[in-house]
Amino acid sequence: MDWPLFDLRLRCRDVRLRAVREDDLAHLAAVLPPDVGHDPRLEIFPRLSDDENERRLFYQGYWRALGTWSPSNWVLHMAVEFEGALVGVQTLEGEDFPRLRTVDSASWLVPDVRGRGVGVAMRIAVLGLAFDRLGAVAAISSATVGNAASLGVSRRIGYRDNGVGLVVETGGVAQLQHLRLPADAWRHGGEVTIDGFEPCRPWFGLD
Ligand SMILES: CC(C)(COP(=O)(O)OP(=O)(O)OC[C@H]1O[C@@H](n2cnc3c(N)ncnc32)[C@H](O)[C@@H]1OP(=O)(O)O)[C@@H](O)C(=O)NCCC(=O)NCCS
Repeated sequence: MDWPLFDLRLRCRDVRLRAVREDDLAHLAAVLPPDVGHDPRLEIFPRLSDDENERRLFYQGYWRALGTWSPSNWVLHMAVEFEGALVGVQTLEGEDFPRLRTVDSASWLVPDVRGRGVGVAMRIAVLGLAFDRLGAVAAISSATVGNAASLGVSRRIGYRDNGVGLVVETGGVAQLQHLRLPADAWRHGGEVTIDGFEPCRPWFGLD
């Protein structure tokens, strides 16, 4: 396999994760929920509707991640399978990872599976990869102060509050809660099953 990340498999409880592939894009874009949000620095095409822009940004986010992958800067988009269906995406990011050893994350789920612990399980799955295979020293996360579900996932896993900043949103400026989970506070390693990792080691700059 020339791109071994496609064979990487993670599992936590009844939630399975594998890398998003080109064939998944149309389905995932079709179920993309309206509250996913995007980096406000990304350009919006004025002749597209909000939904069309979000779907376009979703496709481009996938291609950008693959096309710009390097061991020092990577973005891993994992498709989330639950009860036999693709229900969302869990992303893990390592910016300047060999030096900072810190991962960030982002995620979304279709509305009808939310509130059942899937968000917690899929975050634990990628943190298992980060802490138990990649040697991360910390995971960070952030969410606007009104995003109770995202903050709930982080707090359930043991992230601690790490200050509040400001962020530009469609509706104006919002407060952004930062959270951090140091490796010594990571307690869920035993819940994560990881297959297909060894061939991926060079992708993360590991011997
Ligand atoms: C964020 C998201 C992935 C979380 O997934 P989820 O499956 O709904 O979350 P879980 O069921 O695992 O719940 C996690 C925790 O948050 C709490 N929670 C979930 N939804 C909540 C809500 N609407 N209000 C308050 N608390 C909530 C849960 O009770 C749980 O905490 P607990 O274990 O202490 O009881 C999902 O809600 C989503 O797709 N949201 C829209 C996209 C988004 O905002 N992504 C994050 C951007 S930073």
